Amino acid sequence: MWEAGPVLDLDLLRADLVSAGYTLDGVQARLGEQALAALARNTTAAARRVLGDATDLQADAIRLWLLQLPVPAERLKGWGGLPGLLERGLLEVVGDDLRATVELKPHGSAARQGWICSDPIPLDGRAQQPRPDFVLGASPASTTLAQLVPQRHFGRVLDLGTGCGIQVLHLDADEVVATDLNPRALELAEISLGLSGVRADLRTGSLYEPVAGERFDLILTNPPYVIAPPGGSLVYREGGLAGDDLMREVVTGAAGHLAPGGSLVVLGNWAHLAGEPWQERLASWLAPTGCDALVVQREVLDPYEYIEIWLADAGLPGTDGYDASYGRWLDYFAALDITGVGLGWVLLRNAGREQPDVRFEDWPHQVAQPVGDALARHLDAVKAARTAESQLLAARLRCAPDVTQETYGLPGAADPQHIVLRQATGLCRAVAVDTALAAVVGACDGELPLGVLLGAVARLLEVDADALTADLLPRLRSLLADGLLEFTASHRNPTGSALEMPPTLEVDTKEQG
Ligand SMILES: C[S@@+](CC[C@H](N)C(=O)[O-])C[C@H]1O[C@@H](n2cnc3c(N)ncnc32)[C@H](O)[C@@H]1O
Repeated sequence: MWEAGPVLDLDLLRADLVSAGYTLDGVQARLGEQALAALARNTTAAARRVLGDATDLQADAIRLWLLQLPVPAERLKGWGGLPGLLERGLLEVVGDDLRATVELKPHGSAARQGWICSDPIPLDGRAQQPRPDFVLGASPASTTLAQLVPQRHFGRVLDLGTGCGIQVLHLDADEVVATDLNPRALELAEISLGLSGVRADLRTGSLYEPVAGERFDLILTNPPYVIAPPGGSLVYREGGLAGDDLMREVVTGAAGHLAPGGSLVVLGNWAHLAGEPWQERLASWLAPTGCDALVVQREVLDPYEYIEIWLADAGLPGTDGYDASYGRWLDYFAALDITGVGLGWVLLRNAGREQPDVRFEDWPHQVAQPVGDALARHLDAVKAARTAESQLLAARLRCAPDVTQETYGLPGAADPQHIVLRQATGLCRAVAVDTALAAVVGACDGELPLGVLLGAVARLLEVDADALTADLLPRLRSLLADGLLEFTASHRNPTGSALEMPPTLEVDTKEQG
């Protein structure tokens, strides 16, 4: 009854998915919050209970593509696109049933609603080792990467290591080039993008090879960053280079592909080596790029934690090879002097600055997602934070509207022991300040020039105004760079960015905060 057909007609398939109600809204409404939460935990019992014996097309589509269950072929007769999926081996006939070999999942982003086609992960506690060319679907890492990208329109974008194409669904861009080393990833990405009505130029190849000589306004990637012993065969997570060399190549190689003002956004891992601060290692990657950089380390795992996570990801716990793999991985870390692994984000901006601004942060605390706009604002603010001293003193600043002040101290004490300025958005930074800095920031309401405020606070505290200015200016620059302080609207540039320098002001690169 069911025969493979040569052409995979994605328009027909999309039309049938929509008319069956197999859309994000449709599936959310059908399964409800609890069954969806259970599915997110990789268990299907709740969803199966909700569907019961229903035989409508929406129920069958959910069984086939979300729950990995067989569906009587007879019931899907006439669906467009299915012969093409059979031809490609993405559906198979088992007796009287159809069974999907991929997951086809409704997916929504701020930009659009669509579907992503990826390899299925084991459900209901089944143990299964991924195929070497496994194509990852929506994962916590892919969600985080999408949230690191500013929510705005881009010109040319490179999605390096696109996998199932999930990042492209989140982009608003004139042109997207999506690459992958794994041809199977591009095959599934083509389905995800085609079904979702998004266009991208799909190219096979490693790292920047497929885009030689090309430049982009944004490069985003969640590369195969897992630091693993040689011989690993899982292309979605292991780059096949020693240690964290693949991550380094992604970062260093970006410089030659960023258009002026263009940005790289990477989520990945880096090794902590015995006797070498992690910032120094990464600084050596960043220096050759000549770009402004912001590196945020979100977490550091010890070797045991790290190895156990990735052995579990490969489905090895409980298998005969587990101990040997664990031992080999530990030996590899020991041979490379790896004492831990940092997880985090690297952002580069091709700002064309003679002295790039490079900043490292350990920030394991909660952030307000999506954080991409705030990270981009930080890179924008570098210029503002470098305003020449005389101009900074003449500028009218204001405290950002999302900043609050917290004070801690002993009950009844005249002065607080600690004063903290806390942002409610972006990285949700908390900055400890002293009384003088808190007083100046508190007075920054955009009315008076900063120099006047510093003089007034110096008089109030009965200290020398020049000494106070010298003491506070570097920290005020830091608050500007972090977005806790802003130039007032009178200093807005024509595009309205409050953090942009007034066009008449000179930048003094010798005065870095
Ligand atoms: C962790 S997955 C990320 C997939 C997707 N971008 C996401 O956000 O979920 C890494 C992807 O990089 C691809 N990849 C592996 N080695 C690569 C290389 N040397 N060059 C380009 N892509 C590579 C893998 O096939 C995989 O699709």
